[in-house]
Amino acid sequence: MHLQGSYLFLVFLGTVSVFTACSEHEHANATMATFNVLDYGAVSGGHIDNALAFLDAWNATCSSEAENSTLIIPRRRFLVNPTTFNGPCKAQSINFVILGRLLAPKSPEAWKDLDPGQWLAFHGVNGLKVAGPGTINGRGKRWWNQSCRYHPKLALKVLSCKKSCLRDIHFINSSQAHVLIEGCDGIKIENLIIEAPGNSPNTDGIHIQSSQNVIINNTIIGSEYDYSLLGDDCISIGDHISNIAISYIKCGPGHGISIGSLGKSGNVVHVENIHVSKVTLQGTTNGARIKTWQPTGVHISDVSFKNFYGTSSTNIAINLNCSRSVPCTGILLKSVYLRSAIVGQNVTSSCRNAYGIAFGLVRPSPCIQF
Ligand SMILES: *[C@@H]1O[C@H](CO)[C@@H](O)[C@H](O)[C@H]1NC(C)=O
Ligand SMILES: *[C@@H]1O[C@H](CO)[C@@H](O)[C@H](O)[C@H]1NC(C)=O
Ligand SMILES: *[C@@H]1O[C@H](CO)[C@@H](O)[C@H](O)[C@H]1NC(C)=O
Ligand SMILES: *[C@@H]1O[C@H](CO)[C@@H](O)[C@H](O)[C@H]1NC(C)=O
Ligand SMILES: *[C@@H]1O[C@H](CO)[C@@H](O)[C@H](O)[C@H]1NC(C)=O
Ligand SMILES: *[C@@H]1O[C@H](CO)[C@@H](O)[C@H](O)[C@H]1NC(C)=O
Ligand SMILES: *[C@@H]1O[C@H](CO)[C@@H](O)[C@H](O)[C@H]1NC(C)=O
Ligand SMILES: *[C@@H]1O[C@H](CO)[C@@H](O)[C@H](O)[C@H]1NC(C)=O
Repeated sequence: MHLQGSYLFLVFLGTVSVFTACSEHEHANATMATFNVLDYGAVSGGHIDNALAFLDAWNATCSSEAENSTLIIPRRRFLVNPTTFNGPCKAQSINFVILGRLLAPKSPEAWKDLDPGQWLAFHGVNGLKVAGPGTINGRGKRWWNQSCRYHPKLALKVLSCKKSCLRDIHFINSSQAHVLIEGCDGIKIENLIIEAPGNSPNTDGIHIQSSQNVIINNTIIGSEYDYSLLGDDCISIGDHISNIAISYIKCGPGHGISIGSLGKSGNVVHVENIHVSKVTLQGTTNGARIKTWQPTGVHISDVSFKNFYGTSSTNIAINLNCSRSVPCTGILLKSVYLRSAIVGQNVTSSCRNAYGIAFGLVRPSPCIQF
């Protein structure tokens, strides 16, 4: 593990409890309705665009009077051009079940006159449950060697949701971030596999911003497969975030787990109660970091590092590099044992303007100021 970058982070106060569409408080009596995209003209095989068929099926699902309404994508391959599935819907519980494989168009031409910032998006749908066990393949290769502004940025974007859930999906090769959560209150993300090659630029795993009450659990980001590495942060957390619990994550290769960069605008940003636990980072360029911009709006406080074990590929294994104008305070280091990945080499801690305490075993020796 390699901890580097401006600041570091981890494990905070309080607990995160989220009521989401995943926690199925089943209504045994809920009226149900099911809509299969094949009944709305979808054609499988991967050559014909199905955006309109999917939208028609979505419209039926979303406007259904049933309490629990389900759109089904069967176990086949479907090419889908950039599409937004809009809410609000009538049903309390809206399921988008992907049994098959969704393919993005290979050519950037498909984004002509469309928002290049997204491929598949859900907007303003409450009680949304997007579930697998299917695949979402961004086929991003053709974009990776182009300038960023031509990238469709996100494979799956969930905007302005409440009590929602994303689970059991395999994401592959997005042109940029695989999953973006923005403006949501109460979302659980679990059992995802997200993979893209390490030489793909900016292919973040999951990015969250302006959201609260988020659980990310039991997810593999990067890949266990040899050929596949993730080109950017496994999980990144942007401005205006609170109550996030991230657990049972396997991350790497990639850039690790990042909070920030915060405070780009120079305004005060609130990012609080972020709890990261049971995370394995392997072959990542960083472990866990908090990054901020130079403006003085960002005060990092009450950050705990507990039970951190592993190896670092660089000499500085713990880097608390805080701003002179707004030092980091309330940093806690407890039970940290980091060695060099290279046998016989030593690792060190580096501190600048970092205040707090260390107790229990902490190696390399902490340089934090009381
Ligand atoms: C909705 O219906 C699906 C089956 O179509 C079921 O798996 C799911 O648990 C139901 N959800 C709720 C909240 O009742
Ligand atoms: C379901 O229906 C049964 C029998 O009609 C009723 O007793 C029960 O209260 C209902 N449950 C809910 C959650 O509506
Ligand atoms: C959506 O479905 C409703 C009811 O089934 C229908 O009245 C409406 O025209 C549909 N809208 C679109 C855009 O297809
Ligand atoms: C990107 O790669 C493709 C082949 O993989 C090539 O045809 C194209 O010219 C490259 N574009 C740039 C901007 O390098
Ligand atoms: C992802 O893209 C890379 C590079 O084009 C390719 O080698 C790999 O097979 C793709 N992965 C999948 C699962 O299609
Ligand atoms: C997260 O996943 C683990 C392992 O699958 C499971 O034991 C745990 O209960 C889950 N936690 C939450 C909050 O869902
Ligand atoms: C600390 O941050 C400053 C400013 O970003 C940078 O110049 C310096 O190299 C960093 N030091 C370490 C040890 O990372
Ligand atoms: C590592 O640290 C130990 C104990 O402080 C010291 O004896 C040894 O020479 C150091 N090794 C290197 C390669 O700096």
